[in-house]
Amino acid sequence: MKNEKILIIDFGGFQSQNLAREIRNNSIYCEIYPYKKAMDKIDDTVKGIILSGNKKENIEEYIEKYNNFKLPLLNAIGLDKINNLNDFLGQTKIKNNWNMKNYKDYIIDKIKKEVGNGKVLLALSGGVDSSVCAKLISDAIGHQLTCIFVDTGLMRKNEGEEVRAAFKDSGMELISVNAEERFLEKLAGIVDPEEKRKIIGEEFIRVFEEEGRKIESVDFLAQGTIYSDVIESGDEDEVAIKSHHNVGGLPDVVDFNSLLEPLKYLFKDEVRKLGLEVGLDDNLVWRQPFPGPGLGVRVKGDLTKEKLDMLRDADYIFREEIKNAGLDKSIGQFFAVLTNIQSVGNRDGKRTYDYTVALRAVITTDYMSAEFAEIPYEVLKIVSQRITNEVDGVNRIVYDITSKPPATIEWE
Ligand code: XMP
Repeated sequence: MKNEKILIIDFGGFQSQNLAREIRNNSIYCEIYPYKKAMDKIDDTVKGIILSGNKKENIEEYIEKYNNFKLPLLNAIGLDKINNLNDFLGQTKIKNNWNMKNYKDYIIDKIKKEVGNGKVLLALSGGVDSSVCAKLISDAIGHQLTCIFVDTGLMRKNEGEEVRAAFKDSGMELISVNAEERFLEKLAGIVDPEEKRKIIGEEFIRVFEEEGRKIESVDFLAQGTIYSDVIESGDEDEVAIKSHHNVGGLPDVVDFNSLLEPLKYLFKDEVRKLGLEVGLDDNLVWRQPFPGPGLGVRVKGDLTKEKLDMLRDADYIFREEIKNAGLDKSIGQFFAVLTNIQSVGNRDGKRTYDYTVALRAVITTDYMSAEFAEIPYEVLKIVSQRITNEVDGVNRIVYDITSKPPATIEWE
């Protein structure tokens, strides 16, 4: 069964996304398309049309075209607040029965039909999107899915184990590659973050290729593209080729015919809801955004296993204490950074010359701008005491009190 939907025809700006969120919160499904492409998307599942955005010119021409469709139409262009949205939704007579449980069944069914007897390959990063994507596809087609998980040695504490544990009974083929040594070898002595990113991206592709060669040909390459990627690119097809910007490109040793992108119409929080719906662990579902190059960009200066382990432990303590304080769901992103600064300290009466860890925590919804989080001093104090007591090599903790802009969220 196809979902009935409202079509939002987008004339630029942020209004369309906000509107879409509001409509979906009413358990009504909707999709956004840029105005130049929207005509092709009107089929019998569309129960109403909204024109939204901030581009005022030529609107009349479009309104004339879309009415031809004899569907309820709401012109919300340039409006700050849409007072009559509910009246409009009522007029469309669309059912408000859209929820994640139904949508899960719908997607699983769709994957089954689309893939048939085919084989699917997915690069599992351990992030929310690729994890939910993997679980959905494996629920749909089981062992026809192969996932490649590359443990770069640049992941957070326990992350590799968590990913393996989450999928060990899923029925899919999971190829887990421990590539820590080769990554660290390639990265030895590299200080410049851009260069680190490049090396990590390239090495990822090499590992993926080596594994891919063993598989040779698959029918579909799956990826966890989400709706904001699609909307921001302004073009459904373009985002398909842009694909894995996180890791620098796709391996061309793997032959595949088509892309499979089951999360393409979901916003991030909906992906999380879906993750819970398919039974993924809270830890995976609530995982924070994480740079493609992982801790590679959160250890300043050259990378060594010792420094990475130091950061992993410090970061784990910070995250644990934020959770203990009940702040984990209200702070958009929080993590530790191992600065390249060493300074004199004193431990057990002995002089130390150890590293400084910086703590970063921000309140944000879109990650484009962010405010530093006002974490209570008592919490910061516990974190500081624990890290300096429990992590060898760290003798000083600072808290980052800059917002974005002018800073960025990461310390790259
Ligand atoms: P900045 O540091 O630019 O980061 O304020 C904004 C958000 O993007 C995340 N980030 C990345 N996400 N691949 C990603 O998927 C990357 O390479 C990458 N680098 C930064 C960052 O964690 C923050 O949430």
